[in-house]
Amino acid sequence: MTTRETTNGKYADLVQETRVHGSLYTDPGIFADELARIWYRTWVCVGHTSEVARPGDYVRKSIGLQDLIMTRSRDGEVNLLVNRCAHRGATVCEDLRGNSSAFRCPYHGWTYDNKGGLLGYPYHQGYGGKNKLDVSMGRVPRVEAYQGFVFASFAPDGPSLKEHLGGAAGELDRLSRLSPEGESELTAGWLRHRTHTNWKMVMENETDGYHPQFVHGSIFGVTGSPIGALYSEKSTAVTRDLGGGHSENDLRPEFRDRAQPLGWFGTTEDKVPDYVARMRARYGEQAEEILIDGAPHVAVFPNLFIAEISVFMIQPVSVSETIQNVTAVQLKGAPDMNRRLLSQSVGSVGPAGMLLADDAEMYERSQRGVNGNLPEWLALRRGAHRERTDDQGYLVGDVTDETGIRGFWSQYRTVMEEG
Ligand code: FES
Repeated sequence: MTTRETTNGKYADLVQETRVHGSLYTDPGIFADELARIWYRTWVCVGHTSEVARPGDYVRKSIGLQDLIMTRSRDGEVNLLVNRCAHRGATVCEDLRGNSSAFRCPYHGWTYDNKGGLLGYPYHQGYGGKNKLDVSMGRVPRVEAYQGFVFASFAPDGPSLKEHLGGAAGELDRLSRLSPEGESELTAGWLRHRTHTNWKMVMENETDGYHPQFVHGSIFGVTGSPIGALYSEKSTAVTRDLGGGHSENDLRPEFRDRAQPLGWFGTTEDKVPDYVARMRARYGEQAEEILIDGAPHVAVFPNLFIAEISVFMIQPVSVSETIQNVTAVQLKGAPDMNRRLLSQSVGSVGPAGMLLADDAEMYERSQRGVNGNLPEWLALRRGAHRERTDDQGYLVGDVTDETGIRGFWSQYRTVMEEG
């Protein structure tokens, strides 16, 4: 199927207001459609400008199944090259990261600059002399950063990144404001968690405020964590459909009730005095609100999830396999805070992380379950009867409601049905 062929209402049938069909998680044909219509068309988050801070820096990235190299060229531009030689298609770069102004393909020695242009090739006579060959590495046509987060789209035109982000942009702003220098960084290195589930199971789980009390209940109990109460039936926190498939669990009503700076992070200001002093110096009176409100818990369609202290970028591998790339939030100009952000992030989503292991067990179980044929549908009705509109015009539900997941699916249906 090409991206311009109509789906004849197929996805409007499979994705309904309060239920979705099980085949959406198991049908390889649907996965192929998603690659074409979502991953190779819409804006996808690929990384962060801080990963390629210096000219020549590069890191391997991906969109869908495409292997990419994100580079910083001498002109300061962030480029995304398809990791494929223009000669016979070999991958040009195998290193995960490094610093180089050029890439040399190991197969026959063709060499490219870090914007993808062909610099040279051996044995010119075979191409009729020293004529420059009119080929280059593929470049993802649109690459743009917002608050340091690098997004890219294989569609040469379409909605701008700002239009795509819509209401989610404010959540990225919130993250940056937690830095005394107004910038977040992703410099702690990435963990790659391979999980046997469909990518949508992962993204749905990110915005699901119904499961924490059950899936993570034991760890909340052992550690005495206050997080569980935020996701109880009595919680004043809300889940918000930010439009465009983006959603958040907004925990600020609970944090504002408690009015404790850094309460969102489970700590107190005396533990990170330098950070707090720098925040007050930069933001003045506004610092109290920033320190009380804390970091966002936001899912950005289709693949970015910020869970307060950790950042996830979701990478589909097959209809039943997904990689979660995970790193700790780091805040520019906040070394004392960054040490804590890193250790807490490792504790929750690291190799032996307590939260991610619990979550992975659940969405792998869901994936095994949907291989069964009956019942055909997955229910998405929780809280549909009590949704309301907030003063900004967004749909909100109680924090345990499936308002955000319904927002994800609404955007999914729109994108998959688009001609
Ligand atoms: Fe790269 Fe031949 S495949 S130089």
